[in-house]
Amino acid sequence: MELAKRLCDTYGPAGREGAVRELIKAEIKDYCTDIAVDRLGNLIAYIPAKRKNAEKIMLCAHMDEIGLIVTYVDKKGFLRFTNIGGIFTERILYERVIFENGVIGVIGVETKPETPKQPRMDNMYIDIGAKNREEAEAMVRIGDIAAFSQNAMVLKKRLLAKALDDRIGCYCLIETMRKMKSHKDDLYFVFTVQEEVGLRGARTGAYAISPTYALAIDVTDTGDTPESSKMAVSIGSGVAIKVKDSGFISNPVVKENLVSYAQEADIPYQLEILEHGTTDAAMIQVVKQGVLSGVLSIPTRYIHSTNELCDLSDIDATVQLLLQVCKKGLSPS
Ligand code: CO
Ligand code: ZN
Repeated sequence: MELAKRLCDTYGPAGREGAVRELIKAEIKDYCTDIAVDRLGNLIAYIPAKRKNAEKIMLCAHMDEIGLIVTYVDKKGFLRFTNIGGIFTERILYERVIFENGVIGVIGVETKPETPKQPRMDNMYIDIGAKNREEAEAMVRIGDIAAFSQNAMVLKKRLLAKALDDRIGCYCLIETMRKMKSHKDDLYFVFTVQEEVGLRGARTGAYAISPTYALAIDVTDTGDTPESSKMAVSIGSGVAIKVKDSGFISNPVVKENLVSYAQEADIPYQLEILEHGTTDAAMIQVVKQGVLSGVLSIPTRYIHSTNELCDLSDIDATVQLLLQVCKKGLSPS
């Protein structure tokens, strides 16, 4: 799990994915025929089919994570911020953050009596230990972006880390490239940028490739914690094959292929309906004349917090199912 941990720990909020991209590039360069970075920053690795008239399949995971961007520095040196991606304020209070230049801070909140129990972002600030504005501005500038600062660790058979969303998807793609023995179609492994701010990398990636089929690999919510919402997905119960989320309906042929490949190869799987949230597939599906799309999800607790939790067996099941997809393609049988 060393690579998975390293991927999660690396700095890479949306729009600042460079370090993650370099790490992935170094890990995959020997496993593909061609590797390119598009103008938006997507990393695209190509493995051609050995036959003529192969289909194009795009397999993607997003490199970016959520973050906080500095909007204002006050006289006492506290930083006000706004969000990069979906921030739940109650999940980030008193957590550590790190800027691209290595400056560390902690997230605090105003303590006046009117401050709401569930604070708004404009009640919160980042404390980088500066004693005044001048000292703070020597460390961090307006527009600098912080990511959470956290070290990944394995808890028995589970992985606890920030940015499992979606470095664990990136990890599954890397593992698939390394373990793949045979493949039927032209494969494009795409590590996208800026998913968390509106699926932006997925759009340019899919437009350039114009694939027939696409799968996004991402995390999904679960219904397996105390008093959680009724959702039939739990960690440790297999790769989740998405049926629907709030921005996407799976292509039925793709979805049924995924289910039958899982059954044939004895890969544990579960069907997923996610009521809030979506993935890169929502964008890919509507590019050009449309792309036949599906999603494989790694069930994950505490998404968009500094401590997301998933099960190692689900990571393995996801890679196994991806290997089946590479071997058999996604066309109707
Ligand atoms: Co996310
Ligand atoms: Zn994600």
